[in-house]
Amino acid sequence: MAHKLMILPGDGIGPEVMAEVRKVLGWLESDGGLNFDTSEDLIGGAAIDAHGTSLSDETLEKCRGVDAILLGAVGGPKWTDVDYNIRPEAGLLKLRKELDLFANLRPAIVFDALVDASSLKPEIVKGLDILIVRELTGGVYFGEPRGIEDLGNGERRGVNTQVYTTSEIKRLGRVAFDLARKRSNKVTSCEKANVMESGMLWREEITALHKEEFSDVTLEHMYADNCAMQLLRDPSQFDVIATDNLFGDILSDEAAMLTGSLGMLPSASLGNPGAPGLYEPVHGSAPDIAGQGKANPLATILSLAMALRYSLDQGTIADQLEQAVQNILNDGTRTPDIMADGCREVSTSAMGDALIDALNKI
Ligand code: IPM
Ligand code: MG
Repeated sequence: MAHKLMILPGDGIGPEVMAEVRKVLGWLESDGGLNFDTSEDLIGGAAIDAHGTSLSDETLEKCRGVDAILLGAVGGPKWTDVDYNIRPEAGLLKLRKELDLFANLRPAIVFDALVDASSLKPEIVKGLDILIVRELTGGVYFGEPRGIEDLGNGERRGVNTQVYTTSEIKRLGRVAFDLARKRSNKVTSCEKANVMESGMLWREEITALHKEEFSDVTLEHMYADNCAMQLLRDPSQFDVIATDNLFGDILSDEAAMLTGSLGMLPSASLGNPGAPGLYEPVHGSAPDIAGQGKANPLATILSLAMALRYSLDQGTIADQLEQAVQNILNDGTRTPDIMADGCREVSTSAMGDALIDALNKI
């Protein structure tokens, strides 16, 4: 049976890194024994240019019918002046919300070969393996009321609302606790319960869930600002970090940089059983290097590995793909973002070719 995939390359470096994913998909079909039924469509600025909207209803409907969606990146300077409601990012937010992809998994792993790429000392980041589980369909990203209001006296008022319900918190917590059981069995739950009622509720509901269903897992609560600091001071204290949409956005960029480059970090966004998963690199569209063959395709390729594991039930092949990535890093193959003395600098496309070679050798 063929796995149904939707490819949404998007903007900036999205199409370039996705071309390398296509090479890997080709290899998985010719040598890995898998079958894909692959469609491709537009999202973000590319969709605005073609349809006047960053995610058309037709594209959304097609996404509902697949097993996994592979996304490149959205946004760029070309679309900074478009209407706020149709900006490139709005297409991505609509896709997450409409498919109810409430759990965003962002692993931050320091590969041994890249330990010197981190801005932190090697002894602080060596062997680091953190998983951020970010709530993705609630909180201040979607809360009402929101908007900019003209107060008529030369003043304006901008409003966003941070809001969470019991069920939103608990379903996110369940994903975090479940994943912790397969790792080092510890969850650090982050909010600002000292300032926000929604944070207080978050803490109470996570505590209740822990008591009811997951008392075998170690649970720690931490204010999000302290978490930001602890990630730099002693990141290895963390296993799974469970947090809301906005804090998760910020903490995951921070955790990503512990690993040396945003160009290495994949993500998975998961919803209820049966819903397609959405897989995308954590990096953005990087318009400054788009079209120059400088982009690192590994974050997108590692996102494909997550798709194989979480949506396509192909954990063994996902392991192989991750092993191949480690092998080429150990060989010293590097895109510019992770280049180091004594290594071999390669283009986006040569990195994809090196990966195929590594897959052939496994
Ligand atoms: C991310 C990005 C998005 C977010 C943007 C592009 C809307 O920063 O996935 O982390 O804020 O969620
Ligand atoms: Mg972000």
